[in-house]
Amino acid sequence: MIKDADKKYGPAQLFPIEGRTWPDRKVSSAPVWCSVDLRDGDQALVTPMGLDDKLAFFDLLCRIGFTQIEVGSPASSEAEFEFVRALIEGGSIPEGVTVQVITPANGGDIEKTFEAIRGAKRAAVHLFSNISPLHRKIVFETGFKGAKDMAVSSAELMAELASGMPGTDISFEYSPEGFCAAPVVEAAEICAAVMKALGASPERKVVIDLPSTVECLPPNVYADAVELFCRSLPDRDSAVISVHPHNDRGTAVACAELALCAGAERVEGTLFGNGERTGNVDIVTLALNLLSEGIDPMLDLSDLPGIKRFYESKTRMHVPERQPYSGLYAFTALSGSHEDAILKGLRWREEHGEERWDIPYLPIDPTDVGRRYDDLVRINSQSGRNGAAFILETQFGFTLPRAMRPEFGELVRKKADLSGAELDSQAVYDLFEETYIKINSPYRLASYSFDDKAVNAGGSQVCFSGKLYYNDIEYDISGSGNGPIDAFFNAISDLTISRYHFVSYSEHAVSSGSDSRAAAYIQLEAPDGGSVFGVGLSHNIYLASIRGIISAINRGVALRSVAQAPRRTF
Ligand code: KIV
Ligand code: ZN
Repeated sequence: MIKDADKKYGPAQLFPIEGRTWPDRKVSSAPVWCSVDLRDGDQALVTPMGLDDKLAFFDLLCRIGFTQIEVGSPASSEAEFEFVRALIEGGSIPEGVTVQVITPANGGDIEKTFEAIRGAKRAAVHLFSNISPLHRKIVFETGFKGAKDMAVSSAELMAELASGMPGTDISFEYSPEGFCAAPVVEAAEICAAVMKALGASPERKVVIDLPSTVECLPPNVYADAVELFCRSLPDRDSAVISVHPHNDRGTAVACAELALCAGAERVEGTLFGNGERTGNVDIVTLALNLLSEGIDPMLDLSDLPGIKRFYESKTRMHVPERQPYSGLYAFTALSGSHEDAILKGLRWREEHGEERWDIPYLPIDPTDVGRRYDDLVRINSQSGRNGAAFILETQFGFTLPRAMRPEFGELVRKKADLSGAELDSQAVYDLFEETYIKINSPYRLASYSFDDKAVNAGGSQVCFSGKLYYNDIEYDISGSGNGPIDAFFNAISDLTISRYHFVSYSEHAVSSGSDSRAAAYIQLEAPDGGSVFGVGLSHNIYLASIRGIISAINRGVALRSVAQAPRRTF
């Protein structure tokens, strides 16, 4: 690692704040969201989106519920200008949505920006200028006064241009770029002067956006800066305080959350955190963090996988697998103990009719964001035995008896071990089907009939007869008993396989559409004393049971490699 790091890098600046209040505050409602996907996000793409993609993206943002959308910097490129015009002329801006355009603090760009919004019913114009001492020194070669004059004269021009466009309801935003790297009192002084030039009042508030242009402060220090700024701004009630965190330190979400406690009311960010360098703050994460605390985020993220697919196809970016909420593995347990706890939690919640979401290892209900429960459990050689049972239950409708789960779990584990890869749900089902349902040798039932007879005292007797094959050898069997299982065991009582003894039985209906079949799970004790399970499936519940017995016997024979032709024992 680099030697003498303290010579190359200095500590983050601290802000002189006493009696900070933000640590004791809690966010209790969603902030105003402003999407900057089509500006900060788009300008950071290797291949910026084309006009049609941007229109489709804008439409998606509206459907999600954004009411403020920054759509570009029309003075910076013809393509961005054209996009703004297309939105306005194409009538694509829904009632209730304000499009925002951004401009640097120079006269020509400001005029071009106003040209771009001509004819709009409503628009926000966002001015930015860098106020940090570093920028002043090495880029603008000016001092504090120069930076302030630049911002104020630009704001004055904006106010003048807006007054010449009475048909458009124009609101304003100002961002002191480099806020985090500037003294707060200087930022407040410049912002106050800009607000004055823009005619800010409690009725026509100006958005004052405090960007961490390059994130250089720990979240608590950023929150100090925001709280101090709010205290230092003379006409606080004429401003909407907004934040615009970037993610260079990887703490943009924390910065935004603490800033909301410190007095911010609005957040600018992007879907999945797209944006310059390491991105803007991820609004999806912020919104779903609110949801996880029972606060309506006021954004519709109920089809998060669909939003993600759309985003990835338009931006050609990839949402990482571990991204909170939206990553492929955001709700997935691969470790057996996590898997087991999740499954127990889900069952407990269902059994107790519990409304509150309190499931181990799952911060929110995946189905709230359009994820399916099969995302929860992925099967590899580390998975717990309940994982495979969970997949069979939630996706294929088979509820394995508790005692059978270790047996099937072990088969799945071995298969995953052999393949060295994760097994998808279909592979788990295929293994189940091959192992228990399609196992038709050496024993096979070729024909059968059942006869139910009522007997005295309300009881019943079932008579079974059928043809049983052991490979090519055919046996006619028949027997009766107090149920189909009893009747079948009596029918095979003189065959060697009668040395398998019945242990337990359970059954349930498996529905797919209008078709409902019964699944019967039979546990037998093999001649060597071991336990073996079989599964039978049929529209006829009696037949399902018999198939279950034969499945268990075939498995017992296969497992113990002691297949012998059944002979009459007499
Ligand atoms: O990050 C930033 O400072 C910006 C401003 C232009 C608002 O994007
Ligand atoms: Zn930015």
